[in-house]
Amino acid sequence: MEPSDDPLSGAGRYGEAVFPPGRAGEGERIDFGALAYDDITMARLRALGVGPGWRCLDVGAGTGTVSRRLLEEARVASVLAVDRDVRFLGARTVPGLDVREADITAPDFVSGRFRLVHARFVLMHLPERDRLIPALADLVEPGGVLVLSDAVDLTGDRMPDTPYSRVMRAMWQGLRATIGTDVSRVPSYPHLLREAGLGPVAAEIHVPPLLPGSPISRFWADTWERSRAAMLATGLVDDTAVDEAVRYLGSEECAALSAGMLTAWGRKPGNGRGPEGGSR
Ligand SMILES: C[S@@+](CC[C@H](N)C(=O)[O-])C[C@H]1O[C@@H](n2cnc3c(N)ncnc32)[C@H](O)[C@@H]1O
Repeated sequence: MEPSDDPLSGAGRYGEAVFPPGRAGEGERIDFGALAYDDITMARLRALGVGPGWRCLDVGAGTGTVSRRLLEEARVASVLAVDRDVRFLGARTVPGLDVREADITAPDFVSGRFRLVHARFVLMHLPERDRLIPALADLVEPGGVLVLSDAVDLTGDRMPDTPYSRVMRAMWQGLRATIGTDVSRVPSYPHLLREAGLGPVAAEIHVPPLLPGSPISRFWADTWERSRAAMLATGLVDDTAVDEAVRYLGSEECAALSAGMLTAWGRKPGNGRGPEGGSR
């Protein structure tokens, strides 16, 4: 095969050419997403009964905001936070937090069973997502829960054509072509959890408002900057269009819907201590 002059050929996986953790500001980008979504995540986990005594696994834990809140607010017994790069997790440890550097696509990346297995904004980036859902379900102890959150794209064909929608479409297409990010499977998560032997299952979607200067607006502007090469490579946008979308997002003129966060959960049949699949 001829060598390619495309700078993104061989972009590899999440965290390699795209979103490398060593690039200045990557931890802050993840934290902007966490600021937008952590309260929603924590409310759902608490409603599922997560609390004292629970042994938890947080995969692709990023900067560890959820892992630490599980310990500090929900008072769980322990959290094993796994990531392929643990520089952010190692920098902010708390009692009960165990950090492990591992690739979750590797067989047996962790042993044991957990009452909570949680993965947020991770599976959407991994081409192995369909086989990872049953693998994560296997790590849940009887009566425990698997909770998956990922993005749902709301820039459908019928959405108005704005600087924001043009760039969002280019972003999803560019990330798919380079590192294999695919949000089209996310609405199927309840079904995939059911197929993995969990039940009852349920799901909800949260869409944070795109207000100028808000954490989610800053998250998207930063994400576009870091995936600019992938977006330009689609041919759908040029540098001017990306700059225009960043300006639009930061202005009162912005009238758009953020991507949402779909959270799906399923309980492992067995000696559960709470009501099956339901809230407390
Ligand atoms: C978008 S961040 C989400 C971080 C965190 N879960 C959150 O919601 O704030 C994705 C994280 O998944 C990690 N990750 C990506 N691929 C991984 C893999 N194959 N194994 C382990 N971690 C991975 C990245 O290093 C990064 O920290």
